[in-house]
Amino acid sequence: MCGIVGYVGNKSAQPILMHSLKRLEYRGYDSCGIALAGSDLEVYKDVGRIDALATKLNSNGCSIGIGHTRWATHGKPSRINAHPHTDCSGQFAVVHNGVISNYLELQTQLILEGHHFSSETDSEVLAHLIEKYYTGDLVSAVKTALTYIKGSYAIIVLGKDTPYIVTARYENPVIIGVGYHENIVASDVPAVLDYTNKVIILKDGDIATVSRESVKVCNNGREQTRNCNVISWDINEAEKGGYEHFMLKEIHEQPKAIAETLRGCLSKVEPQVNPGIKIPDNIEDVLLLGCGSSYHATMIGKYVLELIVGIPTRVELASEFNHANPVLRKTWTIGVTQSGETADTLMALKKARQLGSHTLAITNVVGSSVTRLVDQCFYTRSGPEISVAATKTFITQLMAFYLLALSWPGVDYKYKYGLIQDLGRLSSKVQRLLNHQAEIAKQGANLARFENALYVGRGINYPVALEGALKLKEISYIHAEGYAAGELKHGPFALLTPQTPVIAIAGLDSTREMFLANIREIKARESPLLAIADERDTEIDKYVDCVIRVPSTEPLLSPVINSVALQLLAYFAAEARGCPIDLPRNLAKSVTVP
Ligand code: G6P
Repeated sequence: MCGIVGYVGNKSAQPILMHSLKRLEYRGYDSCGIALAGSDLEVYKDVGRIDALATKLNSNGCSIGIGHTRWATHGKPSRINAHPHTDCSGQFAVVHNGVISNYLELQTQLILEGHHFSSETDSEVLAHLIEKYYTGDLVSAVKTALTYIKGSYAIIVLGKDTPYIVTARYENPVIIGVGYHENIVASDVPAVLDYTNKVIILKDGDIATVSRESVKVCNNGREQTRNCNVISWDINEAEKGGYEHFMLKEIHEQPKAIAETLRGCLSKVEPQVNPGIKIPDNIEDVLLLGCGSSYHATMIGKYVLELIVGIPTRVELASEFNHANPVLRKTWTIGVTQSGETADTLMALKKARQLGSHTLAITNVVGSSVTRLVDQCFYTRSGPEISVAATKTFITQLMAFYLLALSWPGVDYKYKYGLIQDLGRLSSKVQRLLNHQAEIAKQGANLARFENALYVGRGINYPVALEGALKLKEISYIHAEGYAAGELKHGPFALLTPQTPVIAIAGLDSTREMFLANIREIKARESPLLAIADERDTEIDKYVDCVIRVPSTEPLLSPVINSVALQLLAYFAAEARGCPIDLPRNLAKSVTVP
C-alpha cells in the first residue's frame, strides 16, 4: 500500500506535495511525511493524517521534494517508521511503496559495514544502499541499489544537491504528470490532476530521471520512449461534488458507471453483445480470481456464466490460490481487480499464466499493473473511485460478467433478447432506487444501534449477502457476517437473539420457497428481520418486520439492484455512528502487499 509523490518545478514544492498526498490517502493514512531539498535535506514526518502534518509546516520555498502517506506493513505507525527515510549522512531521502522481502539480509550486511538504522521498516535499506553505491551520480546509485532488492517497489529518491528526482517501479505503480516547467511523480493519477492531465505510466523495471524540464526513462540500461497519455476525466470527478463522503457520491454515480460500462457493447435491435473480448478457442472451464468485493463479484460471475453459458466455472480467493496446487486444463482464468494493483490477484494471475492458462483481467484502471500481465483486458468504466469501500467498481464488475456471458458464442436467444433489454434498463432502475434513499437511510440509522448483524441470501443473492455484510463491517464497524440462508441452522442460529438483526435478500427465483422457509425459522428465534425485496414481492411482508423495496428486475440481474440498496444501508448505518466512512480504520483501497 502507501502513496508516494515527488515534485520538481518552478513552484514551492511543500504545498503541492501535501495536496497531492491528500489525494493518495486512500492508499494508506496512518502516518505521513515529506522531504525537501534546500541547502540541506529537510524531513518532516508524523503519525496521523496529511492535514495534521500540514498544520505544522511552513512553506520554505524549496522547489524539489518527495512525500509519502503510509499503511504500515513493517513496524507500527510511528514518526520514526514514517517515510521519507534517509541514509546516515543525510544526503538522500527515499519514499517507498511495496515490500522488500530480503531487507533483513541487506540490513545485516549494511550494519556490519557501519550503517546505522533508525526504523523498523523494510524501506530504510534503500536509503543506505543508495548511500553505499553513490559515487557522484544518483541515477546510477539507485540503479545499482535496486539490483540487490528482492520484492516489489515504487520509489522516489531525492538527493541533497541534485536538481532532479529519481523514480523506479517494480510491481507497484508509478505515474509521472508532465507539466509546464514542472513534473510530478505519484502512485496514481488523482495526485497530479490539479496540475496536469498529461501522464506517463512507468513499466516494471523502469528507472526515470525527472527534472523540471524533462523526463528520461531507462529500462535494462537502455533509454525508452514512454507515451504521454491524456487523462480524459477531470479532477471534479475525484472531488466530493457536494456529497458528504466520496462513498455516497460514488454510490450515486452508479447509474452513469453502468451506462458507461455498457456503452457500445449492446445492440438491442438484433440482440448482439460485443464487449470487445475474444473468448479463447477450445476452453473447457473458467477460473475466476479476486479479493474482497472483487471476489464477491466473481461469485456472482460464476452463477451468471454457468446459467447463461453453461460452462463449468470455479472461483478462488486470489490469496488462497497462490498456495494451492491447481490443475488447469483448457481453463480460461479471469482476474477481477478494480485497482489492477492487488498483489494477491497479480500473483495468482501470474501463476495461472505459468500453468498455461489464457488470462483476462476485469479492471477499472487503464495502465495498471494487471493490464501488463494478462492476454486481454476488459475495462469497467466507473471513473475514479476514492472511497476505500468499493461500490461503483463492484457494480460494473457485475456488468462485465453479464456482457461476457451474453457475448459467448452459441448462447441461447431467449437469454440474449430478454437480458439485453433488461441490462439496458438497469441504469435507470438504479437511479430510481437512489431517488428513494430516504427510506433506506431510516433503516440504516436503526441498524446503527446494534453491534452484530447477519446477512442471508440464497442462490445468486448469497454472494450479495456476503458483499452487504462486508460493506457494513468495513465502514460502520458493526460485526456482520453473510451466510447462505440454508446454512444458518448449522451453527449461526446460536447467535440469533432480539439483539441480532438479520438482513434477508429475497430473490424471486427458484430459491424462493426454501428461502421463505429459512426466513420463518429465523423469525421464530425473534431476531429483527429486514428484507431487501423486489417491489412486486408483497408476500414477503408476512414474514419480516420491515422491507426495503427495490425496483423490479430479472432475477439474474437482481444482485445489482440489491447490492446498491445494501451499500446505502451500510452507508447510513456508518453515518449514524459517526464513522470516518471514506477512510475506515486499518484499511486501504489499494492493497499492494500479499
Ligand atoms: C481492498 C479494498 C476493497 C477491494 C479489495 C480488492 O481491500 O478496500 O474494497 O475490494 O481491496 O481490491 P481490487 O482492487 O483487487 O478490486
